[in-house]
Amino acid sequence: MAQLPPDVDEDDCLPEYRHLFSPDLLRDKVAFITGGGSGIGFRIAEIFMRHGCHTVIASRSLPRVFTAAKKLTAATGQRCLPLSLDVRDPPTIIAAVDEALKEFGKIDILVNGAAGNFLCPASALSFNAFKTVLDIDTAGTFNVSRVVYEKFFQDHGGVILNITATLGNRGQIFQVHAGSAKAAVDAMTRHLAVEWGHQNIRVNSLAPGPISGTEGFRRLGGFLNSQKLRSLGIPLQRCGNKTEIAHSALYLVSPIASYVTGVVLVADGGAWLSSLNSTEMLPGLPSFPTKL
Ligand code: HXC
Ligand code: NAP
Repeated sequence: MAQLPPDVDEDDCLPEYRHLFSPDLLRDKVAFITGGGSGIGFRIAEIFMRHGCHTVIASRSLPRVFTAAKKLTAATGQRCLPLSLDVRDPPTIIAAVDEALKEFGKIDILVNGAAGNFLCPASALSFNAFKTVLDIDTAGTFNVSRVVYEKFFQDHGGVILNITATLGNRGQIFQVHAGSAKAAVDAMTRHLAVEWGHQNIRVNSLAPGPISGTEGFRRLGGFLNSQKLRSLGIPLQRCGNKTEIAHSALYLVSPIASYVTGVVLVADGGAWLSSLNSTEMLPGLPSFPTKL
């Protein structure tokens, strides 16, 4: 049985780290990571940097990415450039990508990790709430990919990793917005893999299950105690942690996956295959006012 890599719940670096892959796996690569200031994106940045990569971490809140970059550089000794952008707003993306290219001269890896989500029944979801999540997750992933392609990947190749979810695979309750958004991103992964493959661009999705120590988990599963979690029916009987997701990301962006493109790697302990998916698993939820 593989040993579970340790993790910490906060947006802090790991106090210690044992390499499973070669520490040089991403030596001198540059990764542009949206949503890299927190949660899964922060740990992906850390694990990439522990394998020799420099990073750009970008999200709306400059203080958030600035603080994160200081922690990441202190823990790994690699360079980390914090930048502000809104993935819904192309001019801010163009400015950030230009800044990254000015600083590093190249981008090898793009991780589209920025996302927004909340639990809400379809019957209570406003038009704007549905649109907001699709704008961030789906249009945002396209927008950033399009800019990085235009500015660098079309001439030099590269790797794109889209962080998605399995919500739409079975139609998870209260998740019509995020499930639809992420399913569209998985389709986008296949389209871009086919269209951009001849330019030496690989495009893959990574779909985590419930991951502890994240905003996503606090919003979607934070009300579940550990006993309830075990009884949800996840085959591996537990949530995942951020380091486990970062290791899957590391594999997909690295040369080990050089012939892998257009796939969705699910890292969820088997959860989507067999977990419960009904309103009974959501005790004590607030009532949702309906609003158009
Ligand atoms: C219902 C909601 C809502 C909620 C917002 N809205 N929160 N509706 N329930 N809890 C509605 C608002 O009323 C508004 O509609 C519309 O959504 C836009 O809201 P804003 O607050 O103006 O949007 P914005 O400031 O752009 O913020 C986006 C956000 C926010 C998604 C709403 O929560 C955010 O910034 N999230 C980023 C962090 C995050 O979500 N992390 C978790 C990712 S986890 P009206 O009609 O009133 O104008 C994940 C997958 C997890 O993605 C999968 C787990 C298995
Ligand atoms: P998180 O910490 O809230 O990460 C989301 C990040 O996106 C934040 O850093 C946020 O920073 C950024 N962001 C949100 N809207 C943005 C926008 N419009 N423009 C730019 N950046 C924006 O949540 P997480 O749980 O770690 O999720 C990370 C990724 O994993 C997401 O793609 C999520 O869908 C996916 N995922 C998570 C889980 C889980 O269990 N946590 C499961 C499946 C999939 P700012 O607020 O500073 O913008």
